[in-house]
Amino acid sequence: MTAKPTILQDLPADLDRERLPKHVAVIMDGNGRWAKRQGLPRIMGHRRGVDALKDLLRCCRDWGVQALTAYAFSTENWGRPFEEVDFLMTLFERVLRQELREMMRENVRITFVGNLDALPQSLRAEIERSMAETRNNSGIHFTVATNYGGRQEILQACRAIATQVQQGHLQPEDIDEAVFERHLYTAGVGDPDLLIRTSGEMRLSNFLLWQMAYSELYVTDTLWPDFDRAEFHQALCAYQQRHRRFGKL
Ligand code: IPE
Ligand code: IPE
Ligand code: MG
Repeated sequence: MTAKPTILQDLPADLDRERLPKHVAVIMDGNGRWAKRQGLPRIMGHRRGVDALKDLLRCCRDWGVQALTAYAFSTENWGRPFEEVDFLMTLFERVLRQELREMMRENVRITFVGNLDALPQSLRAEIERSMAETRNNSGIHFTVATNYGGRQEILQACRAIATQVQQGHLQPEDIDEAVFERHLYTAGVGDPDLLIRTSGEMRLSNFLLWQMAYSELYVTDTLWPDFDRAEFHQALCAYQQRHRRFGKL
């Protein structure tokens, strides 16, 4: 029997387990360009993108990263052709239904962030089911940003806080960062230590604007469907070279 290639199953030896990011966020960009390069329709890129995400989740678990947050659909992505949006919604729903058992087996806790009310009813039902069923799982915390926009998130937090003030439950001077964070979609998810964006674009595209105040940013030209463990390894090596100062010396 041939030995399994263990090198990328285990944490690579050049990484320091103690200094891994606890929470990694990814802007999974470049699915369309990947498909175009293969002469395929854009949706094939999204299909392959799901495989890349599934493997990254498993890799995070194997290597000891505690939380992974992935940007799946932005509030601006509604502006794409109907067929593509429709394909994505159906894809999310199908993948979620197919993967729930596996996530339970792997002890994954899945959470969705974004304006979930505006999603198709059948997708929302799968989202709610998966969140409820995995709620008490103690393994990796996997967060999927769907119909997510950082500005919208901040605005809805402001509205909720303003309502509390109006009703006399909160004083304006008591609004601090902790109060604000409790009103974000990501309450309980925490701030990413490392943001990875694929396909070379050097922008945030409305992702986690509040939460990424001090995240380390890593951009690779690799297109999302090609982002594999070797690529993730490189991103983690780059992260471990960084000196996080948080404004101090
Ligand atoms: C990212 O890939 C996936 C989503 C936004 C849903 P894109 O679809 O943006 O791919 P490109 O950027 O057009 O190549
Ligand atoms: C960001 O990618 C959103 C997701 C990955 C879900 P986009 O492709 O939508 O971002 P822009 O248009 O390049 O800024
Ligand atoms: Mg894109």
